[in-house]
Amino acid sequence: MTSSAHSPKILVTGGAGFIGSHTVVSLVEAGFEPVIVDDLSNSLSSALDGLRAILGRDVAFYQADCNDREAMKAIFEQEQLTGVIHFAAYKAVGESVAEPLKYYNNNLGSLLLLLDLMKEYKVRTLVFSSSCTVYGQPEHLPVTEETPRLPAQSPYGNTKAIGEDIIRDAVRAQWPVKALALRYFNPIGAHPSAEIGELPLGVPANLVPFITQTAAGMRPSLTVYGDDYNTPDGTCVRDYIHVMDLADAHVQALRQLNETNADACYDVINIGTGRGETVLNVIKTFEEATGVSVNYTIGPRRPGDVEQVYADVSKSARVLNWKTTHSLAEALRDAWRWQQKIGAKVASE
Ligand code: NAD
Ligand code: WQD
Repeated sequence: MTSSAHSPKILVTGGAGFIGSHTVVSLVEAGFEPVIVDDLSNSLSSALDGLRAILGRDVAFYQADCNDREAMKAIFEQEQLTGVIHFAAYKAVGESVAEPLKYYNNNLGSLLLLLDLMKEYKVRTLVFSSSCTVYGQPEHLPVTEETPRLPAQSPYGNTKAIGEDIIRDAVRAQWPVKALALRYFNPIGAHPSAEIGELPLGVPANLVPFITQTAAGMRPSLTVYGDDYNTPDGTCVRDYIHVMDLADAHVQALRQLNETNADACYDVINIGTGRGETVLNVIKTFEEATGVSVNYTIGPRRPGDVEQVYADVSKSARVLNWKTTHSLAEALRDAWRWQQKIGAKVASE
């Protein structure tokens, strides 16, 4: 691994989580030195063991709440940070409807505190985890960054839209930060080593973990939420991106920000493959890629689901000089290898 004591240190909030842990690997491979802060509210310390197995060494880890000013200040004081990637957030859409203030407090409080500390400690670059959820159901596909954001369907989605606006307004007012908000489409898969991956606690809400748990026999059947949409086979369309491709996009985002001369700047970029896949095609591709069949039935539509969304990726190619390199089949095979590795470990319900 290429990073060393002299590598630029990047604070990775939520670095024990799904996308954060994979990004830690990409950062080290690219010569950055990640410093993880995570309160393990939606992850397990075993992610750090997985990182150690991949990297052959430990990465700095602070178990702390990103809303805890004293703890965060101590980290900024201790580490000579050059940038921040802010993954830490709660992300369960349904829970956010039931407990909106929990989401606003955590997702936005942490961002406000980070911006404050970045100013105080002269840390200039920020990459923020946003989401394609800000587009809702777009009128035209694929969605470009100019596609209007729609009023969020959930408090979770609202925290992403407001988070973007907070950064935009701070930068407009010359807050000395260079920032990119990356609007992720649907991240799936795992590191090919199967040492790290997605750890849905309880019953997975997302499609791919549900497929892998069903294939593993942990769940009797997958329900496909509706087959009467106006799509090629009637099921919803999404842009599924391998989490390692997504991880690499963060490295490119940091590099791009480091090359920017402005004192303060802000932009948003879609991070997807540019391809839309139906639910039934994801199941079929999983079965072909793994040789394992998935028991499923067609059920009613899931309230709040958008019919189809996939990214226009020309801006990410142009601005970040980045594009995806992994296929859907590879992502599903890696998700399956990870599932086989963890077995029933985290499926508590
Ligand atoms: P995740 O839950 O696996 O990771 C988030 C991590 O942040 C977890 O390890 C959790 O313990 C930690 N965390 C949460 N609140 C914290 C706090 N106050 N202090 C310290 N740590 C805290 O989620 P993920 O899928 O890796 O998502 C990462 C980011 O990307 C989130 O901001 C999420 O909203 C965003 N995002 C995710 C998806 C997706 O489908 N996974 C899509 C678009 C955007
Ligand atoms: C994908 C497709 C379902 C489960 C969510 C969040 C969004 C963003 C990405 C963070 C849909 C179908 C699913 C199942 C199914 N996250 N499905 N049976 O809905 O695109 O978005 O993750 O920002 O905010 O809402 O992802 O994985 O839940 O669903 O048929 O058991 O799979 O209807 O079409 P989604 P998903």
